[in-house]
Amino acid sequence: MDVDLDTANSVLSGLRPFPVAITTIEGGFANGLMSLSGGAASIVPEAPRATVSLTKYNKTHDMVSDSGIFVMHLLSAEEEYLDASLHILRTLGGSSGRDGDKMGTLRTRTGVTGAPVLLDAHSYVEARVCASLDVQESTMFVGDVVAAGVLRGGERLRVGPAWGRLPKEWIEQYEANHVPQLESARRYRFGSPDGD
Ligand SMILES: Cc1cc2nc3c(=O)[nH]c(=O)nc-3n(C[C@H](O)[C@H](O)[C@H](O)COP(=O)(O)O)c2cc1C
Repeated sequence: MDVDLDTANSVLSGLRPFPVAITTIEGGFANGLMSLSGGAASIVPEAPRATVSLTKYNKTHDMVSDSGIFVMHLLSAEEEYLDASLHILRTLGGSSGRDGDKMGTLRTRTGVTGAPVLLDAHSYVEARVCASLDVQESTMFVGDVVAAGVLRGGERLRVGPAWGRLPKEWIEQYEANHVPQLESARRYRFGSPDGD
């Protein structure tokens, strides 16, 4: 296969500009992550569905797989809520629940699914997984929406402006964490961590 990878990756980049915070609970342990793969997955307005693609390396992947529930939150871009939005992004996207509790500093309430709803998010849907597709290094989950709410309103945060507001040290840490995730993905896909 002779693909121009730069072109392919540039065509595909930025298609989903809104970072979503995914939360779930499994065996009494609440956790979550940030994702740029959140989307709608239904054309039937009376039966909305949400979809998200989670990497198997991430703890949240196994938790959603086992519990069958997730909450997908959009974050607020409004100046007065921006610090809270960036705190959610940094907390859930910057480390793994494998290394300890990430939810302790986030304001939550228990949703109808039992999963935590982030009170400082812009808005959310709660979903029960109705289908999933195993794609080697990750799983695409589709869920029936069973609850929804708007908590802040206003503009939704996009990843570009958010990235510009994150501290350099956090981005360095995120990039360091990304290395083993990528190696794991290549192992699932090709059988080796460097893609050979
Ligand atoms: C902007 C952004 C987008 C991300 N998109 C995804 C994604 O689509 N799927 C995924 O599995 N991880 C994604 N991640 C990485 C996870 O959020 C990160 O690895 C997290 O620490 C995993 O935590 P966990 O092990 O507790 O689940 C993203 C992170 C950021 C900051």
